[in-house]
Amino acid sequence: MSILIVSPGKNLDRWVEALKEADPSVPVYLPEQVKDPADIKFALAWNHPSGFFNHFKNLGGISSFGAGVDHLVKDPQIPDRVTITRIIDPLLSGDMAEFALAVVLKHMRRLTRYCRYQAENQWKKHSYLRVKNVSIGIMGTGMIGHHVANYLLNTGFRVSGWSRTQGKEAAYGKYYGKEQLNDFLKGCNILICLLPLTNATHGIINKHLLRKLPLGAHVINLGRGAHVLDGDLIQCIDEGHISSAHLDVFDPEPLPEDHPFWEHPKIDVTPHVASLTDPRSVAGQVMENYHRLQAGEPLINTVSRDRGY
Ligand code: NAP
Ligand code: GLV
Repeated sequence: MSILIVSPGKNLDRWVEALKEADPSVPVYLPEQVKDPADIKFALAWNHPSGFFNHFKNLGGISSFGAGVDHLVKDPQIPDRVTITRIIDPLLSGDMAEFALAVVLKHMRRLTRYCRYQAENQWKKHSYLRVKNVSIGIMGTGMIGHHVANYLLNTGFRVSGWSRTQGKEAAYGKYYGKEQLNDFLKGCNILICLLPLTNATHGIINKHLLRKLPLGAHVINLGRGAHVLDGDLIQCIDEGHISSAHLDVFDPEPLPEDHPFWEHPKIDVTPHVASLTDPRSVAGQVMENYHRLQAGEPLINTVSRDRGY
């Protein structure tokens, strides 16, 4: 039996190498190399075409390339017998925390403006914000959001988090459920979205939510593009309620060339790079799930298809 890697348009050499390094005895195939689909036991996938997995009759599990599984959960053709798993990796959380801090400081020290001024040979100064005076709210305090919240807290920010359920106690202020969302939003000078994309979170960052943030709040989306209603965000920035935004994820990706986000003076765009999965760091957990499947044991890092994450 073997592992299949599927990610249309992506160079998969580093993934094949990392899996072979993790266990040289397990054959690893790309789609064009599969001779007998019945030989595939486990797959590693990112943005596969819908229905792609229909004819792999012995497939027992599919791992996302990353933390998010929205691209897998949305495919109703993946048979129920197939367990969906995801990546949980300290590097993924650590990289995200560093990116979040970089973006927060860029906003506080007005760095986007100074880049623009340099391009225009302009010598102009602005006031700036200090860490101890800034309150950051994290939507989604799961594996990544919880780490980001603690990292920002340890840097000296006031931090709170919002999640679906109460969960474990934390060193930062915790809010949960729809009932506590407004109270959470009231206290956020900077809002960071690290939610998974599910039916319940699709379009959650809309004008109703944005208007509940304090005047002048800054919005950072590191979750998925479809969390944000693009037109609502632009409207709230243009009306002045939201000061600015940094967006790393979009719907669709790549962000279309004629999308208004590209040119908006108060929106910064990065191409889904906040935290990239390192194949060598995660090959072990993918291989472990392959061996667990072979041994009939329960898989690790599973997700609930009903919950969507
Ligand atoms: P996770 O461990 O599954 O955590 C998800 C968090 O979101 C949990 O705290 C969960 O609440 C909360 N949540 C889910 N549905 C909710 C709802 N309806 N209302 C309120 N809270 C809700 O996920 P993760 O590993 O931290 O990853 C989060 C997301 O980050 C991924 O799904 C992916 O979209 C994104 N991501 C982006 C990048 C990038 O480069 N931009 C990289 C990696 C990941 P409970 O704690 O109550 O379950
Ligand atoms: C990246 O977006 C991930 O979900 O890991």
